[in-house]
Amino acid sequence: TDRLDGAARDILRCNDRGGYTVPNGRVYPFQWNWDSAFVALGFATFDRERAWAEIETLFRAQWDDGFLPHIVFWQEDEGYFPGPQVWGTDREPVTSGITQPPVAATVVRRLWDGAVAAGEGEAFRPRAEALFDKLFAWHRWFADHRDPEQRGVVVAMHPWETGRDNSPEWDAPGESIDVSNVGEYTRRDTGHLNAKMRPTKLEYDRYLALVQYGRAQGWDHAKIATGNPFKVADVGMSMILLRANRDLADLADILGCDRSAIDVWIARSEAGIGWLWDEVRGTWCSRDLLTGRHSGFVTSASLLSFYAGLSNPRKDAAMLAHIERISARVQFLMPSLDPDDPGFQMVRYWRGPVWAVVNWMIGTGLAEAGHRRWAERVRGDTLALIARKGFYEAFSPIDGSGSGGDDFSWTAAIWLAWST
Ligand code: DGY
Repeated sequence: TDRLDGAARDILRCNDRGGYTVPNGRVYPFQWNWDSAFVALGFATFDRERAWAEIETLFRAQWDDGFLPHIVFWQEDEGYFPGPQVWGTDREPVTSGITQPPVAATVVRRLWDGAVAAGEGEAFRPRAEALFDKLFAWHRWFADHRDPEQRGVVVAMHPWETGRDNSPEWDAPGESIDVSNVGEYTRRDTGHLNAKMRPTKLEYDRYLALVQYGRAQGWDHAKIATGNPFKVADVGMSMILLRANRDLADLADILGCDRSAIDVWIARSEAGIGWLWDEVRGTWCSRDLLTGRHSGFVTSASLLSFYAGLSNPRKDAAMLAHIERISARVQFLMPSLDPDDPGFQMVRYWRGPVWAVVNWMIGTGLAEAGHRRWAERVRGDTLALIARKGFYEAFSPIDGSGSGGDDFSWTAAIWLAWST
């Protein structure tokens, strides 16, 4: 593993653009929100200073209302679509107008623990305090603008916001998006990668229609929360934010900050997140706010309930039974979509492939909940995939083949976080 540790560090150094890291130099040439958070976990294993800087750079793009964009366009690059002109957010630095899963508070909590363990807690305290205020503002923005019915969930206004861009969870809710006025455009992703690994034309039309809608509202998030044609309570983001709020509350205790508002958000989530339990399918899943319909899909995000710190014997047993069933169908856990689903595709992005970062969250949650055997299996499969195939964006759960971009930053970061 020494060789692979070195290779992983080289990928992070090579994708470092000075204070931020691109997910992949060709396909994703800017700073992405949750990519950077995971990347910091990797840097933390060999360069603590650089790990903190990654998150600090990301928050330099935070808007005044706490919103933290999913892409920061620090420099121009023609290799990506949709670029800054399409988003038209009119900000400095130029950013997108949607957010991404809020993993940063959980990562900062870990960076803090690492600093303390190295005897550097006092040196990093001012930076932790500065980041705490920014994380708090972002989480308040979620409560204000991404939970319009105050259900204690996160309502995604765009599939890209969930990070699981083409999950089948967005198929039915996406049907109400009018794509007739999207116009002509040229995708760049399919110029870099095999189209079989990417979302379809219809999905891209929907992505762009939603960008055009947000832009027409001047990226006013209150207006978007009211009229957006796509509003789905995402099980992934909802679990991730609940977990992040628990970590933020811990940070508040450590730093001597007021945690009362965070406790209100946690209590609201614990009371409300049951709305995302589908009794018919026996799983956690996303739910369309506009129709009230559960997606009914078992995805890798369904398995984040352990990471969220939820504990319910009946639901936990049902989720563990899904893992058991799925593990008999694939060689490598955790497929992004149930392999028993007719729409399962082993190389198409979030309709089958295994993602190292989701595995890290699932494995962390399972370990904390005491399900050691499955936690070790998820970690072991992740490391085996990378060791055999390389640092790909994602991997087939069936034969392990790599899909999407190679030399991928967050895959390298998870290797370092889990192997060292
Ligand atoms: C993309 O362009 O594929 C990204 O996932 C959007 O954030």
